[in-house]
This record gives sequence, C-alpha cells and structure tokens, in this order.
Amino acid sequence: MILDADRIIDPEVQQGDTGEPGLRPRTLDEYVGQDGIKERLAMCMTAARQRKDTLDHVLLAGPPGLGKTTLAHIIAREMGSQLHAVTGPNVERKGDLAAVLNNLHSGDVLFIDEIHRLHKQIEEVLYGAMEDFRIDLIIGQGPAARTLKIDLPKFTLVGATTRTGLLSSPLRDRFGLPLRLDLYPVQELRRIVVRSASLLGIAIDEDGASEIARRARGTPRIANRLLRRVRDFAQVRHGSGPIDNKIASSALQLFEVDSRGLDAIDRKYLRSIIENYDGGPVGIETLSSALGEECETLEDVYEPFLLQEGFIQRTSRGRMATRVAYKHLGIESKEPLLLET
Ligand SMILES: Nc1ncnc2c1ncn2[C@@H]1O[C@H](COP(=O)(O)OP(=O)(O)OP(=O)(O)O)[C@@H](O)[C@H]1O
Ligand SMILES: [Mg+2]
Repeated sequence: MILDADRIIDPEVQQGDTGEPGLRPRTLDEYVGQDGIKERLAMCMTAARQRKDTLDHVLLAGPPGLGKTTLAHIIAREMGSQLHAVTGPNVERKGDLAAVLNNLHSGDVLFIDEIHRLHKQIEEVLYGAMEDFRIDLIIGQGPAARTLKIDLPKFTLVGATTRTGLLSSPLRDRFGLPLRLDLYPVQELRRIVVRSASLLGIAIDEDGASEIARRARGTPRIANRLLRRVRDFAQVRHGSGPIDNKIASSALQLFEVDSRGLDAIDRKYLRSIIENYDGGPVGIETLSSALGEECETLEDVYEPFLLQEGFIQRTSRGRMATRVAYKHLGIESKEPLLLET
C-alpha cells in the first residue's frame, strides 16, 4: 500500500491562503467577536500549554464564512504547532487518511474541513486515531488479510463543518471541545470592516462601515466582499474621498444587496414561497427545484440568516414566509397571518 499524504493535503488551506491574503486574523486577539468561543478556546489552550500537553480535539461548526478555517490556523499558531489541512470529500481511501495521520509529529494540528463529508468507512479510521492515537488497518482480503497497527503521536484534530447534524454521533462525541459559531452581530461586523479597510488601505468613515456591516448577513466573508465592491464603486464614481454611508448604500444597491442585506437569491427564495406556495409551508426539496439551488446550499448558506432575521420559519411541514418577509418585499399579506417574529 502506498501511503501518499501529499496527494490529499490541501496546499491553499495549508498556507492559510484562500483568496483573502492578509485579511485573515492570525491571533485570537485579532479575531473579532465570538467572545464566548475565544474565551473557552484560550482557556483550554493555556491549560494544555501549562501541562505541556496537546489541545483536545476541537469541532468548529457554523455556516460558511464565519471564520472556522481562520480559527484552525489560529489554534495551530497559538499552540506553536504545525498545521496539516485536508478536506473531507478529497479523502477517497482509508489509506489516504492513514498516510496523513502517519505523517503527523507530536503536537501537530490536523485540520479536516467539511468533516461531515468524509465517507463513513474512512471516518471510522478516525475513531481510534482520536481516542487512542492508533490506527488499525486491514490489508489484503480473505484469509491473507492482516491487520496493520500504527501508533500515532499525540495530535489535535480540528474538524470544521457547516452541519453538526450530519456528523455521526461516535465522531461528534470524540471531540472534547465542540464549538458553535453564530452569525455576527452588526457591531462586530463593523469592526471587521474597519479592520479590513485599514489593512487594504481603504478610507471609510464609521457610517460607511456600519452600512456595509448591516448588509453583510452576519458573515465576515461577505462583509469583506462587500467592502471590496464598495471600494470599486467609490474609486470609479467618487475619486479618492473616504467612503461614507451614501456611497456605501448606492454601491450596494448597484450590486443588488438590499437594505437588510438580502441578495437576489434570498429575494427569489422568499418570493417563491409567497407567490408560488401561498406563503408556505413548502418543503425544501420543492424550493430547491423551483430555485435551481441544491438543498444543502439553501440550508447552509441562505436559511440561517433568513431564519435569524425572522423572514422565514421552519415548521415540520416545511418553510413558511413570515409577515416580516411580506413587509420587506412590499407584498400585501392575506389576513390573518399567524406567524409573527
Ligand atoms: N472573527 C473574525 N475577525 C475578522 N475577520 C474574520 C473573522 N472571521 C472570519 N474573518 C474573515 O472572513 C474570511 C472567511 O473566514 P473563513 O475562511 O475562516 O470562514 P470559514 O468558516 O472557514 O468558511 P467556510 O465554511 O466557507 O470554509 C476570512 O478570510 C477572514 O478574513
Ligand atoms: Mg473554511
């Protein structure tokens, strides 16, 4: 069996470079918000360092763009460890994972992104690795089969997932430190916009930053993306002055991000429930085919924000649009609408 770890190591994530060079916070202090998580993490990292031990396995769960990959890098850096990064669906065989595990040194951090997408059989290799720091591999078939036992150094597994619900419970239970990231409140996003603007050399005032933060759907990655689009707009239409509230809001209007941060697909989603299904309830599969978006994308990317802001409710019979959604889209609702948020 060839144990080729390089085949599945993700070089971009490995170097912390996933398209936003320079913006990714490198320490817990630079990481804005998520105070509860930072406090728990800092506590456990300090305790492990004091005991000269490795940090317990960490599970980072939450919608895309909230800073899971960033935190994995911060953990490795603050523990003074080497980070090895792989992505769940890229691990095709047990041997691939065994190779990566076998390459670890004591105290290293193994980051598995999208850990919920690991194949079930491959996931089983992790159980022994996480609990006893060993792997048992069965090599060959039939009577010639034999078990290869490999002892591993003590390491920290950091798993990231957008869906805790899809993790099998034996895997979930083996994480000593499960952390759930929530969408960011506007004032934290404003700090992120101000920080990113200063790193990118963009002049922006407080109101301009607030306007972007309000429309960023609780998500740092979106805040950074909107900041860049607003910068483009300001550069072309306004020359060199600082970005203020007016510039930010005209720019975001041009890019079809509305006053509450909903984009074209969010609005299409809500309109579909209201106009085609009478406000709901409508099942996710039906919506998915109506909109031409995968169920998983709707559930991971769009719904968390729409739910949090009270535009929709999830019931056992499906999704329903709330009064807030009707009002926001300027559609008259049939009385009485029972669902209120
Ligand atoms: N707490 C934070 N403070 C400042 N910037 C942040 C923070 N969290 C995330 N960011 C910024 O948002 C970007 C996206 O974060 P990251 O790639 O870590 O998200 P993710 O949760 O791994 O997303 P995905 O699930 O899509 O992989 C980062 O490049 C970083 O610049
Ligand atoms: Mg990530």
